[in-house]
Amino acid sequence: MEYTFINVNPAIDEHIALIQLNRPKELNALNLELMGEIREALKILDDDDSVRAIIITGNERAFAAGADIKQMSGKSAIDMLQIDQFSTWDQIKKTKKPLIAAVSGFALGGGCELTMHCDMIIASETAQFGQPEIKIGVMPGAGGTQRLTKAIGKARAMEMVLTGKFITAEEALQAGLINKVVPVELYLEEAIKLARSVAQLSPVAVALAKEAVLASFNTTLDQGLHFERKNFYLCFASEDQTEGMEAFVEKRQPAFKGK
Ligand code: HXC
Repeated sequence: MEYTFINVNPAIDEHIALIQLNRPKELNALNLELMGEIREALKILDDDDSVRAIIITGNERAFAAGADIKQMSGKSAIDMLQIDQFSTWDQIKKTKKPLIAAVSGFALGGGCELTMHCDMIIASETAQFGQPEIKIGVMPGAGGTQRLTKAIGKARAMEMVLTGKFITAEEALQAGLINKVVPVELYLEEAIKLARSVAQLSPVAVALAKEAVLASFNTTLDQGLHFERKNFYLCFASEDQTEGMEAFVEKRQPAFKGK
């Protein structure tokens, strides 16, 4: 597959794929074509048995400065409805494999929302997160009002969404939005390390566990517990469960196959 706005490496490390946003002059502004390429790449990588974790990154200056304002400017509500860009985001949301965002510089608007579509976020000390849409007369549209609020709580989310102010990587860490902050030269390496620690585990169990954690956003506690239990039982249908438990008993490292 040929891409124009992203670079894809299906094996940056063993079982780990990397998607790099590649519109550096525009601070990786997320035009429709770039988002379409992310959707296609994720679909291919999600279907590839050799891939067990996927990292999405930008460059040192910007993860992504938001949806492409120049592309959106001048559009009517009906244009936006017919373009239906959120079907792309809905598809990205369905990725079964673990997604890790490796963020440096700006993660704004749709860029911040893309990091929140990932399961874990590693940031450089220079990263800034924000939902500045309000400053251009709109508001978040790719989940910012919902996912940010669930991640960092109403007070902090309201302040970010209603004022457009950015928060630093350290503030994002304290607020619970991201997993770790590292010096700028280490953010990708740290994301790969995190991906490795997931990629060595049972891909079946990892996918079922990811699905169960995400279900918590849409369910009551009892429904979520019910869902969790079914996925827990389903793990026992996998060869990886037998291997994992036998390896423990035999005091050796398990070799998971994703079956
Ligand atoms: C289109 C963008 C862009 C964007 C930056 N650029 N952000 N183009 N859409 N979101 C372009 C600039 O026009 C400029 O191009 C080049 O990238 C460099 O940006 P500068 O502004 O010159 O850089 P700097 O002064 O360092 O300021 C960086 C910045 C600023 C603070 C990130 O660019 C900025 O405020 N960007 C917009 C952030 C934003 O509002 N994001 C939310 C978008 S709405 P030229 O050609 O002039 O050199 C959104 C909705 C999501 O995301 C919901 C649907 C998915």
